Amino acid sequence: MASSVIMISFALLACTLLLMSGTSSAQLTPNFYSKSCPKVFEVVGSVVHDAVAKEKRMGASLLRLHFHDCFVNGCDGSILLDDTSSFTGEKTARPNNNSVRGFNVVDDIKKKVEGVCPGVVSCADILAISALESVLVLGGPKWTVKLGRRDSKSASFSAANSGVIPPPTSTLSNLINRFQAVGLSAKDMVALSGSHTIGQARCTSFRNRVYNETNIDATFAKSRRSNCPRPTGSGDNNLAPLDVKSPTYFDNSYYNNLISQKGLLRSDQQLHNGGSTDSLVEQYTKNPRSFFEDFAAAMVKMGDIRPLTGSKGEIRKNCRVANS
Ligand code: HEM
Ligand SMILES: *[C@@H]1O[C@H](CO)[C@@H](O)[C@H](O)[C@H]1NC(C)=O
Ligand SMILES: *[C@@H]1O[C@H](CO)[C@@H](O)[C@H](O)[C@H]1NC(C)=O
Repeated sequence: MASSVIMISFALLACTLLLMSGTSSAQLTPNFYSKSCPKVFEVVGSVVHDAVAKEKRMGASLLRLHFHDCFVNGCDGSILLDDTSSFTGEKTARPNNNSVRGFNVVDDIKKKVEGVCPGVVSCADILAISALESVLVLGGPKWTVKLGRRDSKSASFSAANSGVIPPPTSTLSNLINRFQAVGLSAKDMVALSGSHTIGQARCTSFRNRVYNETNIDATFAKSRRSNCPRPTGSGDNNLAPLDVKSPTYFDNSYYNNLISQKGLLRSDQQLHNGGSTDSLVEQYTKNPRSFFEDFAAAMVKMGDIRPLTGSKGEIRKNCRVANS
């Protein structure tokens, strides 16, 4: 009798634990909005298309927003929040200040989406869909975006500044560790770094590399120095393409650059510098399809980093401010 009571309480406890873990790790799913906002991909895609038609770089900027969102307390739209009197947000943290961009395009997307399905689609999901649409419009691979993320009510300057987003001065082991800390493998890290086949970096991000490093093509270094003055503070925001060959086209040429020591960032060149990831970089140069496949899979994994789901967080009305 006593033992069956114990057994029943154990069974109840086990059920409760299962339920609890079920809620706290509620799954994202590709068809989350298929009833509540069936046009969400069409609407986000059309705004992304227009924005990239106006300025190719915007595709890169939107892709990067999703990355910087996901690596800081999960994919919760926190990067989009403006500072308030109660918190300093992520926009001015070191990896983001004078660097991340695309917030006006996100505002345009949000307005259009609210127009067709008000109060339904989170800003975190808008970033995930925008990343896909951006890569597609620039010629990259497709993946099945999982949805159902909810938005945070606050953002963290200190978390964004803490090194969870690795700096461009990172060594290979730091890059591997930072990705591993959010559940991504070294292979995911190498594939996701292929994002640097599009977009631009500021002089301040590559100055030390082009003046001081030796694992760099001499002609390439010289040409990058020409628009990046040596003294810190002068020309810090001058831009150079991360991919010397085709910066507005999502292809595998980033990896070809690495093999010829034309990685712009120190962190880029670390992926092909005599270490454990050399062979994967070489594979991606020879087999672009394997890059596209691994990139697509890794984007899904990155989009799965600690989302708010179920009744956690909220669906923001304006991506820049928490609902009151
Ligand atoms: C592996 C570690 C990574 C490091 C150290 C790194 C670092 C950087 C840096 C320093 C810049 C230039 C910022 C500036 O100077 O303003 C940049 C740009 C960029 N990053 Fe990364 N990144 C990494 C991984 C990623 C990942 C995983 C993605 C996307 C999935 C990504 C997407 C981009 C894009 C698209 C740009 C260009 C943005 C634009 O032109 O607006 N990066 N990254
Ligand atoms: C961000 O950049 C601006 C403009 O360069 C600068 O004035 C400000 O101090 C920076 N903020 C932080 C937190 O570094
Ligand atoms: C190059 O390295 C030297 C010696 O470490 C340092 O003093 C200098 O500031 C560096 N130059 C640049 C442009 O980073």
